[in-house]
Amino acid sequence: MQNDTMQGLKRTHYCGALRAEHIGQEVTLCGFVQKNRDKGSIVFVDLRDRSGISQLIFDDATPPELLKKAASVRAEFVLMVKGKVRERASKNPDIPTGDVELFVEDLRILSRAQTPPFEITQGETKVGEELRLKYRYLDLRRGEMQKNLMLRHKIVKATRDFYDRNGFLEVETPILIKSTPEGARDYLVPSRVHPGSFYALPQSPQLFKQLLMLSGYDRYMQIAKCFRDEDLRADRQPEFTQIDLEMSFVDEDDVMAINEAFIADLFEKVLDIKLETPFPRLPYDQAMSRFGSDKPDIRFGLELNDLSGVLTGCSFKVFAGVLGEGGSVRGINVKGGADRLSRKEIDKLTEVVKTYKGGGLAFLRWTDQGQSSSYEKFLTEDEVGAVRAAMQAEEGDVLLIVADKNSDVVFNALGALRLELAAKLDLIEPGSFAPLWVVDFPLFEYDEEDDRYVAKHHPFTAPKPEDAHRLESDPAGVRARAYDMVLNGSEIGGGSIRINDPVLQQRMFTALGMDEATQQERFGFLLGAFEYGVPPHGGLAFGLDRLVMLMAGKSSIRDVIAFPKVQNAGDLMIESPSPVDQKSLDELHIGVNKK
Ligand code: AMO
Repeated sequence: MQNDTMQGLKRTHYCGALRAEHIGQEVTLCGFVQKNRDKGSIVFVDLRDRSGISQLIFDDATPPELLKKAASVRAEFVLMVKGKVRERASKNPDIPTGDVELFVEDLRILSRAQTPPFEITQGETKVGEELRLKYRYLDLRRGEMQKNLMLRHKIVKATRDFYDRNGFLEVETPILIKSTPEGARDYLVPSRVHPGSFYALPQSPQLFKQLLMLSGYDRYMQIAKCFRDEDLRADRQPEFTQIDLEMSFVDEDDVMAINEAFIADLFEKVLDIKLETPFPRLPYDQAMSRFGSDKPDIRFGLELNDLSGVLTGCSFKVFAGVLGEGGSVRGINVKGGADRLSRKEIDKLTEVVKTYKGGGLAFLRWTDQGQSSSYEKFLTEDEVGAVRAAMQAEEGDVLLIVADKNSDVVFNALGALRLELAAKLDLIEPGSFAPLWVVDFPLFEYDEEDDRYVAKHHPFTAPKPEDAHRLESDPAGVRARAYDMVLNGSEIGGGSIRINDPVLQQRMFTALGMDEATQQERFGFLLGAFEYGVPPHGGLAFGLDRLVMLMAGKSSIRDVIAFPKVQNAGDLMIESPSPVDQKSLDELHIGVNKK
């Protein structure tokens, strides 16, 4: 069947715009059919665009041909209609256009649609994500997704406005750059012109923004695409977007002040939520020892207690053993949790601990019926008392304890347990936001796999001046001039004051295990540039996707990205990555080893 044309008609209003004030007016709407209710002599059609839904009506005053045509439209047909706005007989208070309906005089079917593989709902959906992503163009028609993308637009607009008002200049940086393996794995792009050579896609514009400072473009910002070939999670995508910033002649306080002012401004403008500034600052060591995480969710308690002191040399071999090997024993007191956490639930929590490589979960459950514990029988009465005192245990509490010779395992396991417990026990107030800065990070972390130190942030982060002399002698003890912004347990931004001295930069590269030839090959351009006058500078990058996710109240960044990728970095809709023909490979001088 042939489709109609738009000829002679022009849209006058969006579907979501009709109100009582339009009653009596002639209007033209365009959109998708949400629903068609054919009641014989009356046909109702809900017409949808991204602004909302209007009800169309065809009734006994409608010519029979038109009524028949109206009855034939199906969900997702694309229509253009002209008619008169009138008051509805039965109003719908649930939608903004619910007082009125459009009595249609001209109906154009511009495009027909097959029955979609899932219903295009307005609210939340129960449809599996895989199907939604395969038909993402249909999923994006859902009201919820449209709301998310409109919010994202607002956030980006408010971001550009804020930084513009504060004298930042947006400069674009290249996407085809040089591979400098440090951090995540690079995505590589083969060069046709230079056989055997590759570009890399930027993991971030880090070096370019530093060079822009060196070129005198004080106060840079960019909404920048970044690419990292790393394992994906709910808050990680292989390509994602940063709000990237750099400033000259600044220290940590300057960078933190302007960027927390930005977040406060954004929440106020976009969500009408007031966040108190300055945001609290928490040293890294405290974040780990109190929350077991360098991105703590501080909206609830359940803080960790260090039991290492009271258990050193204790009579329980497991605890004494890990402490003897330099590890730690720490626990969480779930105050009043005995009612909510049965033995069975505690067993389930043990599984969480195991996913973080913890050996097990020691517990004490203290109800009015008595106490049951997995570890107290191995301790002396004094030791039992000391643990209870250290954790302020009382009747009604549940104590959960993890011991390991590697303290990171203890932190990770208890940090994850904290989050699990908060969700299970409903400890988080919905819609609340708790931003903070984590500061005083170590400059390096030890990479067991590579058996060397790697930069905790990146190799351009400056050490604290008072620690710099220990770069070679005690790398683990050097602290960085770095700061992360954390919101509700998510790292939404990170940055640092940079090294601007070529000698210190070279010492840093050496500490990371790079010999001089490698330094020159990978970063010669930077070291060379540093010979021509470098202002002290620093900056930060926000993860835009994470920020939008949190502001939209979602738990996956895929919900706020129009066309995201799945766990295995594939795109289910366009079916990428995909093989290419031999000719393209030959042109790129590439042979594929499929092993
Ligand atoms: P960093 O690597 O910490 O710093 O990245 C900054 C912020 O980007 C977000 N982010 C991601 N979001 C989604 N998917 C990912 N795979 C992903 N990786 C990171 C996080 C993170 O806080 N050049 C430095 C910044 C600087 O020093 O100025 C950088 O890229 O929210």
